[in-house]
Amino acid sequence: MEMLRADNITFSYAEDTPCVIDGLSTRIEKGEFVAVLGANGCGKSTLAKHFNAILLPQKGTVYVEGMKTSDEDRLLELRQKVGMVFQNPDNQIVATIVEEDVAFALENLGVPPDEMRARIDEAMQLAGIYKYREKAPHKLSGGQKQRVAIAGVIAMSPDCLVLDEATAMLDPIGREKVMRTVRKLNNERKITVVQITHYMDEAAKADRVIVMSAGKIVMEGTPKQIFSQVDKIRSLHLDVPQSAELCHALTDAGIPMPQDIIDPDECAAAIYKMLTGKEAAECQK
Ligand SMILES: Nc1ncnc2c1ncn2[C@@H]1O[C@H](COP(=O)(O)OP(=O)(O)O)[C@@H](O)[C@H]1O
Ligand SMILES: [Mg+2]
Repeated sequence: MEMLRADNITFSYAEDTPCVIDGLSTRIEKGEFVAVLGANGCGKSTLAKHFNAILLPQKGTVYVEGMKTSDEDRLLELRQKVGMVFQNPDNQIVATIVEEDVAFALENLGVPPDEMRARIDEAMQLAGIYKYREKAPHKLSGGQKQRVAIAGVIAMSPDCLVLDEATAMLDPIGREKVMRTVRKLNNERKITVVQITHYMDEAAKADRVIVMSAGKIVMEGTPKQIFSQVDKIRSLHLDVPQSAELCHALTDAGIPMPQDIIDPDECAAAIYKMLTGKEAAECQK
């Protein structure tokens, strides 16, 4: 089943300026976890804003569960289906107490009070911030604030979560906790995730990776398919996960390694095998 679709869309911010999105088509299925990569300025955020009708394409059509984003009568429904989380947690906090912040968007939906209470509590629990519910958001860490923002979106029961570099301003621990929350929502709630990121280790864990350049999609595939093309990725001014880089460098140095390794454990096992001729599992026995 289709969650999001862009059909040959074109967008520029002003007349007579170059297209920021340039004849782009893509389709994201329900329940998928898709990472979007691309150098700065290639149009990732602009594309993300097309997925919940913050922006409308000048040419082509964007569909959310089959609904056109240009259909003004269904705008509220559409915005509720696709929740967005942006980079800067401070810009997303609107209330002075965590649970009020999580409740904010729901209050505008006209949900009955007792259902609202249940939805807010559940969203805070899912995002792992229930224990901070009575605290002031500005006293929380960046990662905790991002999880407050995610809880606010989850309380709306969206089918899809679009994260636009939502972990970029976080320390490694905050980043890991946000990612764990997002993966849980994807695994347990089957919420579709579109994650724009500069972190290749995050992209390595996605079901599918989309690479953009100059308003177009230039590569699309599983993380292994994408990150085994080290030279092509580098030519797009992007990195590959460290384990892929190490395997590539070893191969270049005359030590042949598998070229589809993207995860540190797999990389360690391949190096162990190369050095000893034994499977890593045998060494743990
Ligand atoms: N509000 C805006 N007005 C005019 N130009 C913009 C605006 N937002 C982004 N751009 C331009 O559009 C291009 C794509 O930007 P963006 O979608 O933010 O890229 P990315 O998220 O991949 O870094 C860039 O050249 C950027 O300068
Ligand atoms: Mg951006």
